[in-house]
Amino acid sequence: MADYDVIVIGGGPGGYVCAIRCAQLGLKTACVEGRGTLGGTCLNVGCIPSKAMLHASEMYHESGTHFEEMGIMGVKAKVDLPQMLKYKQGAVDTNTKGIEFLFKKNKIDWLKGWGKVEGKGKVSVDGETHGAKHIVIATGSEAASLPGVEIDEERVVTSTGALELKSVPKKMVVIGAGVIGLEMGSVYARLGSEVTVVEFLDHITPGMDAEVTKTFQRILKKQGLNFILGAAVQGVEVLKSKLKVTYKLRKDDSEAVLDADVVLVATGRKPFTDGLGLAEAGVDMTERGQVKTDAHLKTNVDGIWAIGDVVVGPMLAHKAEDEGMAVAERIAGQAGHVNYDVIPGVIYTSPEVATVGKTEEELKEAGRAYKVGKFPFMGNARAKAHFQGEGFVKILADAATDRILGAHVIGPFAGDLIHEVCVAMEFGAAAEDLARTCHAHPTFSEAMREAALACGDGAIHA
Ligand code: FAD
Ligand code: NAI
Repeated sequence: MADYDVIVIGGGPGGYVCAIRCAQLGLKTACVEGRGTLGGTCLNVGCIPSKAMLHASEMYHESGTHFEEMGIMGVKAKVDLPQMLKYKQGAVDTNTKGIEFLFKKNKIDWLKGWGKVEGKGKVSVDGETHGAKHIVIATGSEAASLPGVEIDEERVVTSTGALELKSVPKKMVVIGAGVIGLEMGSVYARLGSEVTVVEFLDHITPGMDAEVTKTFQRILKKQGLNFILGAAVQGVEVLKSKLKVTYKLRKDDSEAVLDADVVLVATGRKPFTDGLGLAEAGVDMTERGQVKTDAHLKTNVDGIWAIGDVVVGPMLAHKAEDEGMAVAERIAGQAGHVNYDVIPGVIYTSPEVATVGKTEEELKEAGRAYKVGKFPFMGNARAKAHFQGEGFVKILADAATDRILGAHVIGPFAGDLIHEVCVAMEFGAAAEDLARTCHAHPTFSEAMREAALACGDGAIHA
């Protein structure tokens, strides 16, 4: 008889959520995690510490901007980076311990160590073998590096090293204008670094609605971030006193060099499957090294499932969590499901950027007739009172049926506001449904309603 109904390998947001949902459904569950704490990349070196640093640096920046205008005088804030890192670590510790508590509460065994699939129904953890009717691979991802760039996590860092710098660098070069580059670049720009972002493409944040991208870059530039676009980094030379970043402009192949004290490599992440024994167990992989699954997240080997960053799809904690829940429900004989059309994406800069569903570019390419409802935060009373009138809400709806197809928000609390559109989309709502929903005044969410109104006869406050 198997020791467990389910063994989940990996204790990140995919794995720990899957384990908790399995336990809720009455399945005897264990979770293997080799890191000293639960919570995976997200809680330890990803979402949570980066948001703590974004919060702290935003508070610091805010204290130097509008305080006196609001009649708060004499605040001369100073950065104490070691203390900021202590605060950040506190946020990590309470969250990772919280997962440990949830495991105990749900009677999930944490098998401490590195797991290996020893064939169907068998997982070894540091040499000891356990049996399971189902195995869920949730081993996540790791930072991808670049040829010619050697990471030392002190001066040439990934996001992990960037969350542990000993001092605020005078000059920071960020390679990649994606989510990590812009979030961590914002942190250090606010703390006083001169930040230059070098991006391969001709625009920042690939895949995002182009209008949002343009506004976003303009706002970040105003905040002091420099951008070099259309540039392929050739290498980073490590000298005693500084780093030299060589890049080639794609338009004319000309080469240039940037000096830096710290280089942050933020050019994407890759699935992590080292030492898992998947090839020996006969599990098929994709060309990009992800574990291959069907639409129900089953691998080709019966009883082995895979979820989160290690499979195809956006590398987001909430996507991993949803997949974890869906797999648990499927194992328990229910109809677990993930709606990949309604997965929000948020960048936690200031202002925040949030997006769900189709972009205008995607709709154009698909030849779909659509209408656009836009509303600027300058028309939102609360945003203006808070000095947060930059940005806008854009809702895209089907031209004939008015069904909401996507929403793109750049502005205050965009990452929270987006969810009313997510719920609306899950219910197949029309823009008019949002427009006719009473929104409390004065709230930022009124901007969402106004954009929905703009899909019809027009916004009121525009
Ligand atoms: P992971 O969180 O990577 O967890 C996998 C776990 O498996 C790890 O703890 C690892 O130690 C363990 N493991 C691996 N192999 C084995 C093995 N053989 N045996 C035992 N254990 C093993 N996403 C968001 O949605 N919002 C954000 O704000 C956000 N911010 C981020 C900021 C940064 C700096 C980074 C790097 C990422 C961020 N992400 C964010 C992405 C998010 O962290 C990932 O999408 C998410 O953690 C994926 O979850 P997962 O469970 O698939 O994998
Ligand atoms: P990313 O995929 O978001 O961005 C990487 C960027 O690097 C792209 O713009 C790409 O064009 C560029 N690039 C690639 N090679 C380059 C080169 N040689 N020179 C210059 N630019 C180059 O990856 P990122 O920012 O590393 O993040 C990894 C993952 O972590 C993302 O998939 C993201 O979903 C997740 N994440 C999510 C966050 C959130 O939800 N708020 C926060 C941080 C990370």
